[in-house]
Amino acid sequence: MHFLAVYIPEEKINDIKNAADIVDIISEVVVLKKSGKNFLGLCPFHSEKTPSFTVSTDKQIFYCFGCSAGGNVFSFLMKQEGISFPDAVRMLARRYGIDIPVQTMSPEQKRQISQRESVLAINKQAMDFFRCALLENTSGKKAMEYLLKRGISREIINDFKIGYAPEGWDNLAIYFSKNKQPDELVEKSGLIIPRKGKSGFYDRFRSRIIFPIFDINMQVIGFGGRVLDDSLPKYLNSPETPVYNKSRSLYGLHVAKGKCRESKTVFIVEGYFDLLALHQHGIQNSVATLGTSLTPEHVQILRGFIGKDGRIVLVYDSDLAGIKAAQRSIEVFDRGYVNAAIVVLPSGHDPDSYLLEFGTEPFMNLAAESKGVISFLIDCAVKKHGLSTEGKIHIISDMKAPLAAINDNVARSLYVKELAERVDIDEKAVLEKVRQVSAGKRSDIASPSADYVLQNNGNRLERQIISMMLQFPEVLPEVYNRGLLNLFEDNILKSIGQFILKRKDSPGDLVSELMAVVDDKDKKSIIASLAMGDELWDRDECLKLITQFESSRYRNERKLLQEIKAAEDRNDHELVLRLLKKKQMQIKKTK
Ligand code: UTP
Ligand code: MN
Repeated sequence: MHFLAVYIPEEKINDIKNAADIVDIISEVVVLKKSGKNFLGLCPFHSEKTPSFTVSTDKQIFYCFGCSAGGNVFSFLMKQEGISFPDAVRMLARRYGIDIPVQTMSPEQKRQISQRESVLAINKQAMDFFRCALLENTSGKKAMEYLLKRGISREIINDFKIGYAPEGWDNLAIYFSKNKQPDELVEKSGLIIPRKGKSGFYDRFRSRIIFPIFDINMQVIGFGGRVLDDSLPKYLNSPETPVYNKSRSLYGLHVAKGKCRESKTVFIVEGYFDLLALHQHGIQNSVATLGTSLTPEHVQILRGFIGKDGRIVLVYDSDLAGIKAAQRSIEVFDRGYVNAAIVVLPSGHDPDSYLLEFGTEPFMNLAAESKGVISFLIDCAVKKHGLSTEGKIHIISDMKAPLAAINDNVARSLYVKELAERVDIDEKAVLEKVRQVSAGKRSDIASPSADYVLQNNGNRLERQIISMMLQFPEVLPEVYNRGLLNLFEDNILKSIGQFILKRKDSPGDLVSELMAVVDDKDKKSIIASLAMGDELWDRDECLKLITQFESSRYRNERKLLQEIKAAEDRNDHELVLRLLKKKQMQIKKTK
């Protein structure tokens, strides 16, 4: 995950973490009030009226009991500012006057950086090559005519550095070998491909219009290419390379970013030509995803420009594409942030063809009337099933999963209300359906965490042990030697315990480290909420808890044996079987 950490030596990251106080940093954007050992405020990542956003000074972590956002000072900046890990590190380094020396990199780190830089340089040369081919090459004329025929202006062609990959198998390969670029390096850029069974390379892009893909620093990270006729595939994109990752890249963002900031709005389309059409029609706060649906990383990057309450408008060319995107977006927009709107264009149109035919104003009108994703899904279900009794049953059934997927309680209950009113059914009945889905989800993936931690009393002792391990690491050898984790019944807690033990030799800020490396949201929130407890541990307390836990586990075992015996006496075979299974599980766990 921290692949970019290669830029910054680990010691420096630690220096920065030691220098930065998470409470200072968060106080700049959130009003924090002291509450016990911790600080409390209104969460900046979801909307709430009562504070559940907690910051711990001694653990140097934050955690929101409402939306389960949590992490250390770097994660906070990444989420708040929509920036990458190394950028967060650099931001803090600057603030605390810590130099990040480049020369302390290992040879491996240097190699990786220089590889990235070489690939970027190669991409830049290729872009120039394609541009020349479009503007000067005789065969480029066809491509230019195609672009103009599709209504793309010369200005846009220039702004977006559109080019052309001429016909022929190896124009670019030859160009690079003339320029003495090593083949292996050019191959890394994905622009040339080794010939099968023969020596040499051939060009990935041939006889195609070329769209260079830029990152926000205006570096060329990859390319898309479209054929001029009906041949297939219609579009080709660069493969993943050391500099190109499609789930983080957005076409047009380098031009759109300023306008996104100004307007706090971004339009998201699916295609290259759609994006160009929007820009050409003055709608410059728009980007395109490239041969992939919108990812959480995309949203995080965009939020960095439009702000956390900014507006996202998804533009789709059919109901079906729209419904799919809307359903997916609920998870992509992570927690409360479902305030994305969706525009579905009249059938047969995509943004490009719509703008060409009708122009900017009708498009903006559609956007202004656009519905939030949930309301849109409700509309679609109503359209599909009608409002007969049968229809209503189907509507509720279509909507229960998307509603259950909304993690923010307030948002969910508002949408439940909207649906109930729309189909004229009792709100409680709708809620009941949604709950069934949520409950099903909970039992198989053991999810939503704050609830889980606060309400699941079944394994109170296990939770206390984890909490103890997090807050009093001196006890870890004891936990390890006694094999306490083997007695755990709760698998999530057990795996967190194992995680902690694995890192027991690098103490320091164990919790903050864990928060940064654990990817699983549920685990993260359990760790945070347990680490933030107000208990004060000492060795005696710890040993007392350990003994209590052990004897309760062994007592459980004895109790189970007694139950089995009693059931046998009563000839309750079914119960005996069930209890034996439980017993077997216990044995398996302690092994
Ligand atoms: P569409 O098939 O909707 O094409 O693909 P389009 O954007 O309207 O293209 P034109 O107007 O016919 O030129 C939408 C997007 O999906 C990706 C491309 O990013 C494309 O812009 N795509 C499509 C591919 O990656 N490969 C393909 O073969 C087709
Ligand atoms: Mn199109």
